[in-house]
Amino acid sequence: MGFNTWSSFALRVNEEDVRQTADLLVSLGLKDMGYTYLVLDDGWSEHERTPDGDLVADYSRFPGGMAALAGHIHARNLSFGMYADSGTSTCGGYPGSRGFEARDAAAFAGWGADYLKYDNCYPKEGDSVRARYGAMRDALNATGRPILFSLCEWGVEEPWLWGRAVGNSWRTTGDSSASWLSLVNNLDNSVGLARYAGPGAWNDPDMLQVGNPGLTLGEQRANLALWSLLKSPLMISTRLQELSNASAAILMAAEVVAINQDDLGGSKEIYAGPLAGGDRAVVFFNRAEHDEGAAGARFTLRTEQVGYQEDTAVRVRDLYARRDIGTFRGRFSARVPPHDVLVLRLTPEAAPILEWEGGRWPR
Ligand code: GLA
Repeated sequence: MGFNTWSSFALRVNEEDVRQTADLLVSLGLKDMGYTYLVLDDGWSEHERTPDGDLVADYSRFPGGMAALAGHIHARNLSFGMYADSGTSTCGGYPGSRGFEARDAAAFAGWGADYLKYDNCYPKEGDSVRARYGAMRDALNATGRPILFSLCEWGVEEPWLWGRAVGNSWRTTGDSSASWLSLVNNLDNSVGLARYAGPGAWNDPDMLQVGNPGLTLGEQRANLALWSLLKSPLMISTRLQELSNASAAILMAAEVVAINQDDLGGSKEIYAGPLAGGDRAVVFFNRAEHDEGAAGARFTLRTEQVGYQEDTAVRVRDLYARRDIGTFRGRFSARVPPHDVLVLRLTPEAAPILEWEGGRWPR
């Protein structure tokens, strides 16, 4: 969770805006809600490297330089994010890091960066995305500084299949913008990918547009809620200097954000359906693509979820094992390893309630 300068400041970003944003993350209470990464996106560097090949900040817009800016951010207990590109040039036309990975990673680490967003513009022909991003991963690791690595490959080469081995998040889509069409597009392109994500490696449908003109408050609520359920990074990208109270309240909806930050990041699906006579078929399906330890992920089914009263005793049978597991009230939990299922038949010891019969609820 944090803030990214792109959707609000674009290539006009400057030191004063970043410093004010850091101060506002604290004073508005956003930092305490968990928005702790402040990421300086494209537009921070000079148009040319130094004769030695170093990247330097554009001193007209960043007169204090990067290390001092990082200091301002760290002094507020925030983390500092930087931006670079895996090709020969950034999308905004500044020098890219292709062939300079070790030098640039060392510079970012030296300035105190805690996060790197790595973009996908201007590759050399024949370069694979995965190889370019792998080179920067190795360079960041070689610095010895823990740096969150955010892959911005716009979904190219299906990053959910390889991103876990390379970075901490990968973009599932093109850029988000403050429009309903962009919101539903990025949502649709991300649904179904949960099984590739988990702690330390996340699908990223791009930054939040909450607060930006172009979205109604209802659309802003949808943006935060759906990004929370997708377990996406939650990166604010609106001018905090002008944030309305209504948009601030959305970003600070603690119980929605708690869904995003919930410890369970994996991908567990429960399928259930009614059988004749009031029984239920239930399948716990662990779609995770990665190892969660031999015991697998823990599933919990509340009997209410399948239409039984909370205090109804329910017999649970494991259909592959052909074994009655026991009688439960209220809820039933089990662990399932990745790429496996637990198939259950539930039999209530009293008639199920809340069945819709002939157009009305039973008395
Ligand atoms: C690309 C990225 C954006 C932003 C811009 C900067 O479009 O996807 O998120 O970083 O470049 O130029």
